[in-house]
Amino acid sequence: MIACRQYFSLSISHLQNREIVSKSICIANQKGGVGKTTTAINLAACLAVAEKRTLLIDCDPQGNATNGVGIDKSMVRADNLYRVLTGEVPAGNAVRKTEIPTLDIIPSHQDLIGVEVEFIALEDREKKLKDLLKAIDTNYDFIIIDCPPSLGFLTVNSLVASDYLLIPLQCEYFALEGLSQLLNTVKLVQVRLNPALTLAGILLTMFDTRNRLSHRVAEEVKKYFGARVFNTIIPRNVRLSESPSHGLPVVLYDIGSKGAVAYMDLAKEILANGRL
Ligand SMILES: Nc1ncnc2c1ncn2[C@@H]1O[C@H](COP(=O)(O)OP(=O)(O)OP(=O)(O)O)[C@@H](O)[C@H]1O
Ligand SMILES: [Mg+2]
Repeated sequence: MIACRQYFSLSISHLQNREIVSKSICIANQKGGVGKTTTAINLAACLAVAEKRTLLIDCDPQGNATNGVGIDKSMVRADNLYRVLTGEVPAGNAVRKTEIPTLDIIPSHQDLIGVEVEFIALEDREKKLKDLLKAIDTNYDFIIIDCPPSLGFLTVNSLVASDYLLIPLQCEYFALEGLSQLLNTVKLVQVRLNPALTLAGILLTMFDTRNRLSHRVAEEVKKYFGARVFNTIIPRNVRLSESPSHGLPVVLYDIGSKGAVAYMDLAKEILANGRL
């Protein structure tokens, strides 16, 4: 933790006086296993160790982000995102502390699987999350939302509640598959529900320097999306896959790992370059 602080105080000290406005970033891609949750947990943790008050919202019924910051998803029956969405619990009551003092989380619950059907007849159903977060968003500099691998109710609610969208793309075959569908959904959300939604950028994940395919995919994506691709590329790194089973973001699990350095670089890029 101290090492993380030193890293940030050395490298972003010139940004300390910037005016802070609360910003919400949705991490979405309906393709499964591309690094959404790994990015949500570790970007949130890195922003938090840079002393930004950060809230992670686990919007995926799988609850991987919840477990990944050390909260047992089976132990949050009473206060979780599902109960917030149904109106049984105010958002503030569902907020949990994590090992990083500046990082809070609203945990997920498997009952979230049902909301799509349960809320079918509800008016303004797509704005539910945005409305509920109004009560707490001023407590944070950043809100990071981890989406499920679908373009359903939960992802649309996350897009409506967000200022920015970050799309992780795995450096693998068919990386761009389904991306046009996602971008169409984003366009619809911008037109009908949230005109302020902006693409923060595309994040290349699980890059393997020894694999020629990784290089080819990265080149293709950069050719196609140009400056909208983050300069930071997340490498394939075993520490990133191990850390969730210890309930720790990688900066607390192994600060010196390539994965930790990459996510700190991503946080710095987000804080520094005026992209957001
Ligand atoms: N950079 C990386 N290096 C090594 N393993 C990674 C990396 N990023 C993610 N993983 C691993 O790949 C798997 C999928 O990652 P993750 O859960 O972040 O993807 P996801 O997009 O959230 O998946 P889902 O669509 O199921 O929600 C996990 O086992 C994770 O630990
Ligand atoms: Mg996930």
